[in-house]
This record gives sequence, C-alpha cells and structure tokens, in this order.
Amino acid sequence: MDRVKDKVAIVTGAAKGIGEATARLLAGEGASVVITDLDVSGGERIVQEIGAHGGRALFLCQDVTDEDGWVETIAATVKAFGKLSILVNNAGVALSGSVEDTTIEDWRKLMAVNLDAVFLGTKHAIGAMRTFGGGSIINLSSIEGIVGDPNLAAYNASKGGVRLLTKSAALHCAKTGSNIRVNSVHPGFIWTPMVENYLSTLGDLEEGREATGRLHPVGHLGEPIDIAAGILYLASDESKFMTGAELVIDGGFTAQ
Ligand SMILES: NC(=O)c1ccc[n+]([C@@H]2O[C@H](COP(=O)([O-])OP(=O)(O)OC[C@H]3O[C@@H](n4cnc5c(N)ncnc54)[C@H](O)[C@@H]3O)[C@@H](O)[C@H]2O)c1
Repeated sequence: MDRVKDKVAIVTGAAKGIGEATARLLAGEGASVVITDLDVSGGERIVQEIGAHGGRALFLCQDVTDEDGWVETIAATVKAFGKLSILVNNAGVALSGSVEDTTIEDWRKLMAVNLDAVFLGTKHAIGAMRTFGGGSIINLSSIEGIVGDPNLAAYNASKGGVRLLTKSAALHCAKTGSNIRVNSVHPGFIWTPMVENYLSTLGDLEEGREATGRLHPVGHLGEPIDIAAGILYLASDESKFMTGAELVIDGGFTAQ
C-alpha cells in the first residue's frame, strides 16, 4: 500500500481502458490523480468512484494534441495538488491499414494523438517536474513499437516513435541532472474498448478475441490491470534506477 503516496499524477486518456485502470491503481496507492480525456462523462464517473473509495482525483477535459491545453492542464494540476510527479502519456488511437491503404490525412490524425501528444506532454512535464525536484514520465508504446504488422503501418510508426522519443528524453533528463526518469511500456493485446472496436471491424468479435489471444504464447489477451501494475512500478520509487527502458508486458508475444 501507499507505493506512490504523496505523489501527483496526470494520466491522459483515463476515461477508459488502460488509462482508467492506471488512474484507479495510482489513486489506490496514495497518489493524487488528474484524469484527462475528451470523454467528459466517463472521466467524471471515475473521479467520483475514486473519491467514494477515499482517493483524491480530479477530471480535466483535455485534447492531448493541443499544446496550449498541455500548459493549462499542468498549471491546473499544480494549482489543485501542489506539484507534478508522474505523467502517464496513455491517450492513443488505433487505425488499421497497410502502408499502401493509409491516406496522408489518416496518418497525420493518428500521429497527432499517438506521437505529437507524447512529445508535447513529455516536453512540458519536464519543465514542471524539474521545479519540484524530479518525477517519472511513462509513455505508452506497444508491442507494435517493437515488431511490425503489415496492417498497422501508421500505428507501428507512431509507437516506434514513442519508443525512441522516450530514450532521447530519458538521456536528456539524466545528463542534465534533473532527477526525471522517462520509460516506455509495451503492452500486448489488452481487452479494452480500443481492441474491441478494432476486432469488431475485422469480423466476429468473439472469434477475433480468441484468435488474437492465441497470438500470445500464454494463449489469451491481457487485462488493463496487467499494464497498470507495470506503470505503477515505473511511477514509484521502486524503479529509481530505471530510465530509458522498455517495459514489455505482452504474454510472450515478442519473445517468439
Ligand atoms: N489495448 C491494447 O491492446 C493496447 C496495446 C498496446 C498499446 N496500447 C496503448 O495503450 C494506450 C491506451 O489504450 P486503450 O486500449 O486503453 O485505449 P482506449 O481506446 O480503450 O482508451 C483510450 C482513451 O484515450 C482517449 N483519447 C483518444 N484521443 C484523445 C485525445 N486526442 N485527447 C485526449 N484523450 C484522447 C479516448 O477518449 C479514450 O478514453 C494507447 O496509447 C494504446 O495505443 C493499447
């Protein structure tokens, strides 16, 4: 218990899926959590539930692609809870399509959320965290940032970008002595609204779930809490010697 006591976290895209599980877990382990998303009703519901369990949380409507919104979100977090110690760049979108099928418009829309926003969040959080003596930034990449999929050209590119942006930011923070760690997390397929929507475009949902599960050596998909547990570790001081690293949580998918 209290693994992130007295820390203040922002979790983007936390109205559902992996972000929701992460916000709940961080709050349960003692952090004050700012939940941001475009989904206002989902975000506010989670804030209420965290509050009902004795946790501290606040919802802010944020489009992570907007730079001014990042400045406002960080300022509002510091105003509400006094500092910023953890940023989880979780908001993301998926798009299927090969390199030939993908339009430049769709490519740019996906990159804005999955890569530009991670850049903006990391950039602005570093300044704030430095003021408060350090922090931990956790960027959601994917197994799709490590290995390719012929039908996920833009998604692959965005998550590969997150993986190396994370290392560059980690080195910058380490070499400038700012006591800020930056790591990436690489989930396999996790049962969330994103994956449910993606699989439903490919055919029968239950068949898709089972077939996708079989791609993982453990034989099934993961759950949001599996990823939230890794994020909690990176957010806590237990991982204090870890920066620029890739935490792969994928049921063995990339071990093959
Ligand atoms: N689910 C998986 O299998 C899986 C695997 C690997 C990586 N990931 C990554 O983990 C992260 C979370 O995935 P998930 O499956 O929980 O997704 P999800 O679609 O279930 O939830 C994502 C949340 O992000 C929000 N969001 C989208 N665009 C936004 C924007 N511009 N500004 C603010 N919020 C926005 C959505 O409203 C939603 O609440 C993503 O970055 C995703 O790419 C997921």
